[in-house]
Amino acid sequence: MSSNTGGQQPSPPTGQTSAEAAGSIRDRLAARPTDEASSGGDSRTSDVNESAFQQTYSVPADEQQRASSSTPQAVEALGGEMHRDLTPQESRSAERKVSALFLLSVVGVIGFIVTYVAVPSEFGEAGNTYYTPLLGSFMALALFGVGAGAVLWAKLLMPDEEAVQERHPFGSPPEERAATAAALKEGFGQANIARRPLLIGSLALGGGALALLPVPLLFSMGPYQHKERVLRTTGWKEGVRLIRQNGTPVKLGDLVVGAVESVFPDVEHGTKLADSPALLIRMRPEELDVPEDKAEWVYDGHIVYSSICTHLGCPVKLYEQQTHHLFCPCHQSTFDASKSAKVLFGPAARPLPQLAISVDEEGYFVAQGDFQEPTGPSYWERG
Ligand code: FES
Repeated sequence: MSSNTGGQQPSPPTGQTSAEAAGSIRDRLAARPTDEASSGGDSRTSDVNESAFQQTYSVPADEQQRASSSTPQAVEALGGEMHRDLTPQESRSAERKVSALFLLSVVGVIGFIVTYVAVPSEFGEAGNTYYTPLLGSFMALALFGVGAGAVLWAKLLMPDEEAVQERHPFGSPPEERAATAAALKEGFGQANIARRPLLIGSLALGGGALALLPVPLLFSMGPYQHKERVLRTTGWKEGVRLIRQNGTPVKLGDLVVGAVESVFPDVEHGTKLADSPALLIRMRPEELDVPEDKAEWVYDGHIVYSSICTHLGCPVKLYEQQTHHLFCPCHQSTFDASKSAKVLFGPAARPLPQLAISVDEEGYFVAQGDFQEPTGPSYWERG
């Protein structure tokens, strides 16, 4: 791929490509008038001059010797490596290698999808150990195939030319842009893309397969339990027990005064429902200052609040038992757990929603129903 900049070049004579007409970078620099070489084509002082060029492109003597005995392209490539023209046989071999890499990508995508569907993904299931590593490996294979194929294609089958772009704060003159466009067009023409159907086909296949990669992930956006009013309901329902992270139910008497427990609804995937985590707190009954309409929502000094911060959704689990303050570690919102979790400090705009609780006949804590307000960030305050 070529790009040329610098002083304006005369139009190439008929039969010459723009690159040929422009000559090597050294030729172009040497041919520039002295005032242009020192000004970079405008009235300001350029930071590129002959000495800088010499310094940048000084080449060891043995390399110059090697280049001078090689092809004209190699001579022009002093200062950078260029690949030589491939024979038709080498070209076909390179094409096959690139296609193989693209097809490797297809294998990766197929492996990813098969793993996603066939390997057990639930914790505790036999075979689950390999689920994530396999997914990752196949995804890596898919990305590697397309990436490596593209790199190899560029390295082996695309035309190559070392180019220097002078530092210049403004755009190139129209003539130069036209010359660059012509050189690009010529480069694509030399790449013979239209005459490489195997490459085009395998790239299309690999790229298309890669586009399928995220599709299975859409099915992981669950568990999806609330079929209706998804943003306003949680996993809590009347009679649902309060369970710990390990699945054990919490019984009256399990918590001493001043203790807290993270609780989840005892429903399918209850501990994974993002909108349902809550905090059970035990105080002395006389410490609780609850409004009359919520007097039945607490049980013997036990009270439950959503543990999702109403600011931006961080977990609110830091409880200070002397002051009854609940802290959010993200932006220091502070709630008073003894007064319906009203906001004492910080950016949260509303109290933590409270869950009405009771105790069932076996002495386990249960919910009286769902939260009566939406849990989580203050999206709800936007009217
Ligand atoms: S998320 Fe809790 S204060 Fe910001």
